[in-house]
Amino acid sequence: MAYLISIDQGTTSSRATLYGPQGEALATASAPLTQHYPEPGWVEHDPEEILEGQLSCLREVLACAAERGASVAGIGITNQRETTLIWERETGRPLHRAIVWQDRRTADVTQRMKGEGLEAEVRERTGLLLDPYFSATKIAWILDEAGLRERAARGEICFGTVDSWLIYRLTGGKRHVTDITNASRTMLFNIKTLEWDDELLRIFGVPRAILPEVRMSAGSFGETSAELLGCRIPITGAAGDQQAALFGQACFAPGMAKATFGTGAFVVMNCGERPGSGEGVLSTIAWQLPGEAVQYALEGSIFIAGAAVQWLEEGLGLIGGAAEVEGLAGSVADSGGVYFVPALSGLGTPYWDPYARGVIAGLTRGSGKAHLARAALDAIAFQTVDAIRAMECAGGIALSELRVDGGATRNNLLLEIQAGLLGVPVLRPRCTESTSLGAAFLAGIGAGVLDKERIGKSWSLDRRFEPSLLPERRAEMYRGWQKCVQLSLGWAK
Ligand code: G3P
Repeated sequence: MAYLISIDQGTTSSRATLYGPQGEALATASAPLTQHYPEPGWVEHDPEEILEGQLSCLREVLACAAERGASVAGIGITNQRETTLIWERETGRPLHRAIVWQDRRTADVTQRMKGEGLEAEVRERTGLLLDPYFSATKIAWILDEAGLRERAARGEICFGTVDSWLIYRLTGGKRHVTDITNASRTMLFNIKTLEWDDELLRIFGVPRAILPEVRMSAGSFGETSAELLGCRIPITGAAGDQQAALFGQACFAPGMAKATFGTGAFVVMNCGERPGSGEGVLSTIAWQLPGEAVQYALEGSIFIAGAAVQWLEEGLGLIGGAAEVEGLAGSVADSGGVYFVPALSGLGTPYWDPYARGVIAGLTRGSGKAHLARAALDAIAFQTVDAIRAMECAGGIALSELRVDGGATRNNLLLEIQAGLLGVPVLRPRCTESTSLGAAFLAGIGAGVLDKERIGKSWSLDRRFEPSLLPERRAEMYRGWQKCVQLSLGWAK
């Protein structure tokens, strides 16, 4: 493996990592990303801040590569998915703030469409459910709100998810492209024909002229502009962050699954060359490599995971930082009957209710902050169980183990709770930055310096967490969780 760089543009930060010939991370840089909440349920990002943050990270790791005399074979881009950007084709100037995947402003639109009986049709074509989570209704909202429909029809503006935005600007406006995994999250892309779908464009009112060209996840996405970075480096891989993590975890065989714990938590299961389907579960594109058939995946999307712990810190001032939650939650044997449903952005898999809101229940005079911290960790694990059960029903298979990654997997207690509530072993690899690693792997394949066999061999275990909870206790706790979920559903309707 030659030197590779991955760009990981996430919901709360932008990062870049330089990988060495053995796949080792040699340097990482990160920049925080400001969250804008202009109204309840709305979440926005500044596209220029996304770009600037990413550029400064890139410059930092490029300087490190230069110090080593390393030449970088390719850059891989991975990103928060669905987040919607609109910019001027001529100048690359953003025409609105990015509407973030968590944003619920178009809930009434998707609700109306459901009422019109459109969900089955949308689902059949996209593998997705009618929910404001995906890009389609966000695009239409910006076009209307910013009065851009005429300019859109004239081809003067571009839409893109974050990968597309970064590639456009990094290549100096030369490439308006996206990768197929990101396209599959817009709700405009037909995952069977593998093309933008005219019927979907009509349903959502999105003009074809604003859409990027769709490419496979490894291959040529253009070169960075020398004016921006002082050198031209080929961009040779791109994928949405959850698909990149599945790839980074080397889940190459059907039935293998990973859960990534970040702002949200996303469980993704490889389902091979045919799209799967099932109640409350998304069917999506896992990746497409040169010379291979498209690979599909089933996905359970949990909107609030690490963000629940963040809320304990920022919203309640209960802890001084995420690192404190393990000690606090571990200071009690269990949550003492306290349940916390962190439906702070509605609920995703399997409930798909944009009107659900957070609930804390089961408080007694003896409840304290440790119980609430414990309930927050339980909630992350319960939501993962909900997603996996729905996927098992959909795929007709029982999961035998779960690979995990992401920042929150440093928390041993969380993984113990997860194994206990799930009833199968949870496997933490040595490298838990699977998203970033996956993007580097894709870039390596696109640059022709790496293959899947080598990647598969490079996965190694750090720790295996065995389920230790008695089945009766597991069932009892799950009943409590379910009761609390029922309270949260439809709350804001
Ligand atoms: O679908 C949203 C997802 O891609 C966001 O991931 O890691 O930024 O929470 P993350």
